[in-house]
Amino acid sequence: MSPAETKPFDYLIHNVNLATMADDTDYGIINSACIGVKSGIIQYVGPQAQLEHPEDLEKNAESLINAHNQWLTPGLIDCHTHLVYAGNRANEFEMRLNGAHYEDIAKAGGGILSSVRATRNASEQNLFDSASKRLKSLLKEGLTTIEIKSGYGLDTETEIKMLKVAKRLGKEFPVRVATTFLGAHALPEEYKNRADDYIDLVCNEMLPTIAELELADAVDAFCENIGFSYQQTKKVFETAKQLGLPVKLHAEQLSDQSGAGLAADYNALSADHLEYLSQASIQKMAQKGTVAVLLPGAFYFLRETKLPPIQALRDAKVPMAIATDSNPGTSPAESILLMLSMACTLFRMTPLESLQGVTINAARALGLEKEVGTIEVGKKADLVLWDIDHPNELSYQIGGSNWTRTFKS
Ligand code: NIG
Ligand code: FE
Repeated sequence: MSPAETKPFDYLIHNVNLATMADDTDYGIINSACIGVKSGIIQYVGPQAQLEHPEDLEKNAESLINAHNQWLTPGLIDCHTHLVYAGNRANEFEMRLNGAHYEDIAKAGGGILSSVRATRNASEQNLFDSASKRLKSLLKEGLTTIEIKSGYGLDTETEIKMLKVAKRLGKEFPVRVATTFLGAHALPEEYKNRADDYIDLVCNEMLPTIAELELADAVDAFCENIGFSYQQTKKVFETAKQLGLPVKLHAEQLSDQSGAGLAADYNALSADHLEYLSQASIQKMAQKGTVAVLLPGAFYFLRETKLPPIQALRDAKVPMAIATDSNPGTSPAESILLMLSMACTLFRMTPLESLQGVTINAARALGLEKEVGTIEVGKKADLVLWDIDHPNELSYQIGGSNWTRTFKS
């Protein structure tokens, strides 16, 4: 090959073990493999012997990376976060441990509304800086895609401010950011006792403006006694549908509102939390391929005792994802690997299911499964190298991280 000739790959990772996650029934392990990447897209996955010049790897790539038998997985995906907010709610954590309940704190004007007050008062820069700190922790664990919701603004201006900060995080850090508009997260103080009027504001003003500005990839709501009713949620979904935006839902976190079934009726990408999920809603989710996003951090931090119906979801073949739900009130989490461990120990998911939950099924929960979530030819080269002996170690370890490096397309 003459020096002027371009080599098939920009870089080639060799001496590597792969967990491709490309098969729904196992890790998709390929030992002693090679992976070739060109222009950020995976072009070759397989044994070194099948390369064009197996004896002279340098002929294949501009840059050669010897992985020394470490393991490569798809980049991890956190498909449910509220990463952008101001302040914290350690005081409410202390109140809860002294006997107060999450719902009572919310009804008394604390909870989400206390984060709303802080977020409205924070500058864009201040929000960016505090979210950056949290994002940096997640990136050290191999995160390559993150979903970030609004929902601590609850007025048009602050919701826009939050989504702009989320977009900016995606520009300034090596991570793909999917944004979700969560205007229907809680009833702001100025709309007290006027929930329907607030939903009108969400549908008639906030959503069209945010769609026009292209600030959201999806629309979410909190369907709950302390959130919004089935009918109000339906109205938000109807507006999202008219604007061509996919929906997802905080559903069945504290009680059964049939929200997950409603979400499935609207072809939702996902229904999230699901501790109080009914069998009827599971069937609807299965029919529509709605992903069940399970949030062990919120389960743990709220000291919830009702488990999401994992076996029923498994039996119905509903794809299950895992996420941090990183937020100040119910899951001040900055570790995706800890969520894998909790998914196994608290929810009795298997290590394979938990890794699927932050790769292929998390990609499905964001509608990104054609681009990311597995190691396959044609997909984006979002990859993580781990110093482990088997991918089950990713959910086995409590704290610490065996992360070596991330490749981001
Ligand atoms: O995912 N449930 C609603 N929303 C968040 C909590 C928000 C908060 O308490 O600040 C959740 O748990
Ligand atoms: Fe959430």
